Amino acid sequence: MRAKLIVGNWKMNGSRAGNARLLADIAAGLDSARAQCAVCVPSPYLQQCEEALSGTPIAWGAQDVSVHGFGAFTGEVCAKMLSEFACRYVIVGHSERRAYHMESSEMVAQKAKAVLAEGMTPIVCVGETLEEREAGQTAQVVGAQLDAVLELLGTADVAKIVVAYEPVWAIGTGKNATPEMAQAVHAHLRAQLKARNAEAAESVPILYGGSMKPENAKALLAQPDIDGGLIGGAALKAQDFLGIIHSA
Ligand code: PGA
Repeated sequence: MRAKLIVGNWKMNGSRAGNARLLADIAAGLDSARAQCAVCVPSPYLQQCEEALSGTPIAWGAQDVSVHGFGAFTGEVCAKMLSEFACRYVIVGHSERRAYHMESSEMVAQKAKAVLAEGMTPIVCVGETLEEREAGQTAQVVGAQLDAVLELLGTADVAKIVVAYEPVWAIGTGKNATPEMAQAVHAHLRAQLKARNAEAAESVPILYGGSMKPENAKALLAQPDIDGGLIGGAALKAQDFLGIIHSA
């Protein structure tokens, strides 16, 4: 049995005072939670997370990383820097990065590799747009996105990643994939992992993201290949985030 993993993606939200309250409220509400959980925060708040969350069951991480190491790359943050703040996770290839920052799947693959090289876990996001879904291209699109990453990583590294299926049309829209729709894509992704490394495929968590909320989390998380959630909007309110964690 894969343990459920619930990850908050704060996106470009937060303030020192607000984060302190949110993190304290989440930590206080975790008592009986069985799921693992983490928050991926804007880089300036990583030190605050390290200070607030060390010794709690909540892990933390970043939302992006440079493909480069140290050097003349103004505005970039490299994996070694993130590892200095004891990040466990780094999201790579979120659809907002792909759409607004022109990140290709090959670049996402390089980011995943950079994260692994520093001993952290990449959360590799894949997902189709509404047009692609309506054109019947979902499997092909997410398949190509995942394949680019798997191709660059070695067989052994397959076991060290987390995959997140995030249909672009469901992100921040209040529309979520039905449990059956999501399960079908997750099963497809699992089969793809299996083709690379059958043993690892059984242990790699495949998270669902896209308007997951306390009200729909239970049904989504009950699906055999949905191992957790990558949560945007609902991760910004302790009660909602805890509601999802407790339904896992
Ligand atoms: P959402 O975002 O939960 O607000 O839809 C999910 C994500 O983009 O990771």
